[in-house]
Amino acid sequence: MAYKIALLPGDGIGPEVTDEAMKVVRAAADVCGFDYETQSYDFGGDRYLATGEVLPASAIEEFRQFDAIFLGAIGHQDVAPGILEKGILLKCRFELDQYINLRPVKLYPGVECPLKNKGPEDIDFVVVRENTEGIYSGAGGIQYKGMPSEVSTQIHVTTRFGAERCIRYAFDLARKRGKKLQLHLVAKTNVLTFVHDTWWRAFNEVGDADYPDIKREYAHVDAACMWFVKNPEWFDVIVTDNQLGDIITDLGAAIQGGLGVAASGNLNPNGVSMFEPIHGSAPRYRGQGKINPIAAIAAGGMMLEHLGEERGARLVEEAIVTILGSGKIKDLGAGRMGYSTSEVGDMIAAEVRRAAAQ
Ligand code: IPM
Ligand code: MN
Repeated sequence: MAYKIALLPGDGIGPEVTDEAMKVVRAAADVCGFDYETQSYDFGGDRYLATGEVLPASAIEEFRQFDAIFLGAIGHQDVAPGILEKGILLKCRFELDQYINLRPVKLYPGVECPLKNKGPEDIDFVVVRENTEGIYSGAGGIQYKGMPSEVSTQIHVTTRFGAERCIRYAFDLARKRGKKLQLHLVAKTNVLTFVHDTWWRAFNEVGDADYPDIKREYAHVDAACMWFVKNPEWFDVIVTDNQLGDIITDLGAAIQGGLGVAASGNLNPNGVSMFEPIHGSAPRYRGQGKINPIAAIAAGGMMLEHLGEERGARLVEEAIVTILGSGKIKDLGAGRMGYSTSEVGDMIAAEVRRAAAQ
């Protein structure tokens, strides 16, 4: 059987990093003996500018037929903010009900960490970001736009159902990791006394009823930002709402060595999931082969794990660790790696093949 993978390379440097991710997935498939076929979709800024089409409903219906989706990056300098992000990325997340955004924060050996006296043993946690509601819901609007009386609202929508399914996923993950057997809720219960009260009660009720073995911790989001920097070793699994998860995972990426290494999965445990690097489309680097593909390659590894190809996933992660640990890549930033985008992909793919042959 061959897996069916939809590719959405997207904008800017998205296509370059997608190529490298799939190069490494190919190496894993060859050595592990599974197969897959891909179908590419050119949705993104260029297509929108040329045709006016963002993402038709028919594409979403097609995506449902795949085993996974891989997305490079979305965002184009000539398109107003929001059109592509909402029209493609958020539309996929919402319509395909990818209610978990899984974002590991893991410092690999050999990667420079901006925190003083912190190493790989201190930075290894996972953020479970709610991915279909909250302030991203789209509820609200602008009235009297441009007039002195202009009024705009953007409504945070939390449903008990949405919070609870996300919390349950996070509890299960804490149990599966078996590290600290601990789950942090990150929220703002002291101010968002409606929506985060729903989160708080769901967290405690679900924990009491079904996860007595998992220790519950709570941090306000502002304090959590401080702890990420001062005591990242306190965290194991974090569950949080959509917007707070967006913000704290950029900070998480920074402490794990930057957006060059941070990967994520938009998961629908009962449907089709989508994997992507956390970084954006970096349009000014487009086509130059300067961008670091490791985040996308790591997202490819997460995709393999999700497909049940655990050995392949492990080989990809170990190859990343080996190459980063070798110190060959001088700097993870764009244009400073000492290698081109495709050379880094080649190195990691070769390492997957080499390690598998051992
Ligand atoms: C992310 C991005 C997106 C988000 C944007 C591009 C809509 O920042 O995946 O973190 O806010 O979710
Ligand atoms: Mn973000």
